[in-house]
Amino acid sequence: MGILESSVIKGFVRLCDDGWQQGWHERNGGNLTYRMKKEEVEECKPYFNYDKPWVNMGVKAENLAGEFFMATGTGKYFRNMILDPEANICIVEINEAGDSYRIVWGLKNGGGPTSEFPSHFLNHSVKVKETDGAARVIYHAHPTNIIALTFVLPLTDSAFSKVLWQSMTECPVVFPKGVGVVEWMIPGGAEIALKTSELMKKYDIVVWAHHGLFVMGNDFDSAFGLMHTVEKSAEIYVRMLSTGLPMLQTIPEDKLASVAEAYGGKLAENLL
Ligand code: 13P
Ligand code: ZN
Repeated sequence: MGILESSVIKGFVRLCDDGWQQGWHERNGGNLTYRMKKEEVEECKPYFNYDKPWVNMGVKAENLAGEFFMATGTGKYFRNMILDPEANICIVEINEAGDSYRIVWGLKNGGGPTSEFPSHFLNHSVKVKETDGAARVIYHAHPTNIIALTFVLPLTDSAFSKVLWQSMTECPVVFPKGVGVVEWMIPGGAEIALKTSELMKKYDIVVWAHHGLFVMGNDFDSAFGLMHTVEKSAEIYVRMLSTGLPMLQTIPEDKLASVAEAYGGKLAENLL
């Protein structure tokens, strides 16, 4: 069996293609990383080579030393992932200091992991700690409606959390902790990575103003599902606004916590 037959690569590619089909990945927009399980690393190891140099990331996380990540390549199109995974994704190994990576598989025509790898990496670091190792996926996309809202809503955690919770009844259940918001910043470096990972200590979802969304998941389904739910709620709100009609009613604010509670969640009521 070749490495491309492994279920972990199939799952990774499926998420990329699902995101493309949703229209969240124009050109090379968006990126995905996955922290591999020990048994997945063992399964893929026969295909690794260790010739590539270590590359310093400009950020450091000691709790990710020695981990292996699958990552989309920088400049690569989600549209193409399904056609040729080995040209568009890579597996990287993290060094013992937790500050550098080296490519051990993939990107057969050259290139490196996503330019947002520092953000993904620090988010993984925060989430591994918070979930005792359960969290594995960080997903960044450019969904239209959530981006549109960053032009018309105040760029605060509470404004976004409240609108998204109130636009679709499932939302307080799916993300009771709410949503963090990063003001517009230059993407692709350590500064935005630090800012995002600070918010990831409180949230599983972070909006990047005028840019997109970061979510975390324990597996591909939960990460994709979270992205999908947030964007769907944003779409409902945008469509409601675009009717130009006055809003006559919405989900009562004082009932949001009870919705979360009905499914065993605890709403971050400080955001209301
Ligand atoms: P990459 O092609 O480097 O992954 O960048 C795409 C992107 O969405 C930047 O935020
Ligand atoms: Zn982006």
